[in-house]
Amino acid sequence: MIDRLRRGQVLARLLLVLVMLPLSFSAAHGQSDEGEPGTLRNPLNVHGGADPWLQYYDGNYYLATTTWASGLTMRKSPTLAGLKTAEPVPIYFETDPSRCCNMWAPEFYLLDGPNGPRWYFYYTAGIWGTYDFQHTHVLESAGTDPLGPYTYKARLFDPQNDTWAIDGSVLELDGALYFLFSAFIGGFQSIFIAPMSDPWTISGERVLLSRPEHDWEAQGSYVNEGPVALQHDGQTFIVYSASACWTPDYKLGLLTYNGGDPLQTESWVKSPEPVFQRSDENGVFAPAHNGFFKSPDGTEDWIVYHANDSTGGACDGRRTTRVQQFTWNADGTPNFGVPVSTDEVLAAPSGDEGIDPLPEFPPLEIARFKVYGRESAYLRHLNFYALVESMENPIADSQFIVRPGLADPEAVSIESVNFPGFFLRQDRNSIVLVPDDGSASYAADATWWIRPGLADPEWLSFESYAQPGKYISRQFGVIALVEVTESTGDQVREDATFRQERMTAS
Ligand code: AHR
Repeated sequence: MIDRLRRGQVLARLLLVLVMLPLSFSAAHGQSDEGEPGTLRNPLNVHGGADPWLQYYDGNYYLATTTWASGLTMRKSPTLAGLKTAEPVPIYFETDPSRCCNMWAPEFYLLDGPNGPRWYFYYTAGIWGTYDFQHTHVLESAGTDPLGPYTYKARLFDPQNDTWAIDGSVLELDGALYFLFSAFIGGFQSIFIAPMSDPWTISGERVLLSRPEHDWEAQGSYVNEGPVALQHDGQTFIVYSASACWTPDYKLGLLTYNGGDPLQTESWVKSPEPVFQRSDENGVFAPAHNGFFKSPDGTEDWIVYHANDSTGGACDGRRTTRVQQFTWNADGTPNFGVPVSTDEVLAAPSGDEGIDPLPEFPPLEIARFKVYGRESAYLRHLNFYALVESMENPIADSQFIVRPGLADPEAVSIESVNFPGFFLRQDRNSIVLVPDDGSASYAADATWWIRPGLADPEWLSFESYAQPGKYISRQFGVIALVEVTESTGDQVREDATFRQERMTAS
């Protein structure tokens, strides 16, 4: 006869298996066979692939994407497809609260500046809890290794217009450096250019290059952002992202330099039509915020961009990184073609005979947690706090991936689907969604034991690993870490009881 405690432990292990099963199952059974040498399929990641920057240097490809957190990472692989399984290498972590958070839009360049050849890693960052104070920053490498080490160099800003600014990028033209970025003017998020005296200093006033003016630049919101230079056969272009990143109609526009002073708006001519946009036929939506790289033998031009798989995507961590070769039109402008389907097998860049280790990623096994006793009420995050409420939109805020516990793989950690790398953690009895900072205290606070439901043992409850006896429940109307004792009432027990509902990412 199994005594009550032992029965509870047996049931808890059974629940843990049920909670974790889809993850192990898909990991073991969802992977497809490797691809043919010299071929690959998109995407390069299953999520966390937004705003990608990819460079080929000294025998390896290097990829960085938006982390939305306080750290920056980079993946390295000798083959393009190998980036899919390359481990992200942390290259920087910020603790200064004035620039700690919401890191977006990484770009890294090998520039020969005052300190000799160094990698300069540009990115956007701001303060916790709001995107209203985003600015552009840059790191400097110690040598010529793209993986660093890096030290923080500067915040780049125009002293005469020190405003909100994002998506910093560098243009080298006729021996001079220029900083490209997106900022607001008259309520329109626009593209600006400014002179640079060195890779970390804006040395003059910003000049407006492009503001959203066409209908195709105003879908969802008037936005021009993500500028990036492209040079070929003596011509210079700036490719930029237009319309709202949270719509499927986020797309690319083109500015062509006509040879005058690059710091004059008139020196740049905007193409009247977009140059790269959604393909409903290929199932690619919001294809933009791009970069460019060359094949290993330097003969081919490739574009790297992010996209969503459906019109329901958003400007969040579900975006994935895609690559494809592009060509040039007779007039010298780039021809990016149509964003390719993730079913299409591409020839790898010339000189890359790599094998695609993962032509098709297993779908993300997504969990939602319905709350006991409340109709259609689910555990969700809002403004990075955990809530329980009846909600369907954005459903991604109530979707999680159940991972092995960061502090103990026998337990679990609950990762956000739309903010990869962000886990539910306790913080002074609140339950918040914050990025993993790699610390032991974070791991402990973000690890939960699966227990039989406190209101119904067929359901489940989350007991704190860091504070045994305390459970995710509700107190004073908000989700909280609540101590449960023999005398704890039914309402706390019901608010601590969840049923996992599983779904597979589309
Ligand atoms: O993806 C995060 C940010 O969203 C990007 O830096 C910007 O281009 C967009 O507005």
